[in-house]
Amino acid sequence: MNNKKRIINSTLRYVRKKLAHDSSGHDWWHVYRVWKIAKKIANKEGDKLNVFVIELASLLHDIADYKLHSGNEDIGPTKARKWLEKMNVSVDEINHVCKIIKDISFRGAKVKSKAKTKEGMIVQDADRIDALGALGIARAFAYGGRMGKLIYDPSIKPVMHGSFEEYKNNKSSTINHFYEKLLLLEKLMNTEYAKRIARERTMFMKKFLEEFYSESDGSR
Ligand code: ADP
Ligand code: NI
Repeated sequence: MNNKKRIINSTLRYVRKKLAHDSSGHDWWHVYRVWKIAKKIANKEGDKLNVFVIELASLLHDIADYKLHSGNEDIGPTKARKWLEKMNVSVDEINHVCKIIKDISFRGAKVKSKAKTKEGMIVQDADRIDALGALGIARAFAYGGRMGKLIYDPSIKPVMHGSFEEYKNNKSSTINHFYEKLLLLEKLMNTEYAKRIARERTMFMKKFLEEFYSESDGSR
């Protein structure tokens, strides 16, 4: 086994152990899917990419999510850096992975959140694909419950957030999260593959929302 493969395997074991019991939708299986999807997209996007960086960033992207650490955006990249230094990854590659993790998150409907490098765009797309479709629906409600959010309140309207601060502090329902983020992701995808998958999964979420509203007033 070469050194890079060994580092990937150790990282995988480290993340699996850390996130095995997460109940907020940021569990090991989410990371596993992002890792697999990112590798698939990388395969389709040509051979000039640093796949090692893509794999490490995918595996470490939710090692300490700001949403679960009082909004602290630095904790994820810092933890990832510590781990990668321990693994003797090169400084350039550590910086690249940490930059991807720092830039990956959605920041509000009116806020730019595009990854800066091709590798970053691929990991961002993979993470966003897993926020869509049946899995995306399950993760959204798991997260909402974990954070004490209401499922739905027709009197609270979705808000198109103009800053990351506003988006972070938002207290609305999980149904509103579909309008405030999930249904917007299709247009934000960076790669052709992700655009196609996002289109299919967004259609499914729209059907779910139709059914949800038809059941939601208790009249049938
Ligand atoms: P990001 O890096 O864009 O924050 P994550 O990989 O951390 O993406 O996962 C975000 C997922 O967490 C969302 O797709 C959704 O399932 C859930 N989530 C985040 N914010 C909310 C919210 N306000 N209400 C419901 N679910 C949310
Ligand atoms: Ni994620």
